[in-house]
Amino acid sequence: MPLFWNNVVFSLKVSGSLVCVLCLVDGERKPPMGYIYEAMDTAKEAISKSFKWDENRYEEIFRIIDIRWNIQLHCPLHGAGWFLNPEFFYSAKEVDEEVTNGLLLCIEKLVPNVSIRCKIDDELVKYKRA
Ligand SMILES: *[C@@H]1O[C@H](CO)[C@@H](O)[C@H](O)[C@H]1NC(C)=O
Repeated sequence: MPLFWNNVVFSLKVSGSLVCVLCLVDGERKPPMGYIYEAMDTAKEAISKSFKWDENRYEEIFRIIDIRWNIQLHCPLHGAGWFLNPEFFYSAKEVDEEVTNGLLLCIEKLVPNVSIRCKIDDELVKYKRA
C-alpha cells in the first residue's frame, strides 16, 4: 500500500536526524554538553531540508520536538556549552540571544559573588576577541 510506504519515508526523514542527536547525548566519544545545542539546530535544519522546506509537512513534528526540547532537554547549560565551545563560537556569523542568556544564567547561578562575576565579564570580553 503506497500510504504505508509514504509513512515509512516520513518516519525515516524525521527520525534519522534525531537519532544522531540521541547518539551524541548518550554516546561516550566526547562530552556532549558543548555540542547538544548545535546538534539540535542541525537536526531541525536537516528535517526541514528533507521536506524541501515545505513547512506544512513538518510543522507538526517541529511542534512535538519543540515541546520536548523546551520541557525536557533544553536548559541554560546547553546554551553556555555552545557559547564556550570555540568550534561554534568563533565560526558563527552571530551569536543567538538564547545562547548568551544561557551562559549568563549559568554564571549567575554558579557565581553568587558580584565582584567575581565582574571579573568573569572581563574575561568574556577577552574570549569574544579570541
Ligand atoms: C567576593 O569576592 C571578592 C574577591 O574574591 C572577595 O574579596 C569578597 O570578599 C567576596 N564577597 C563576598 C560577599 O563573598
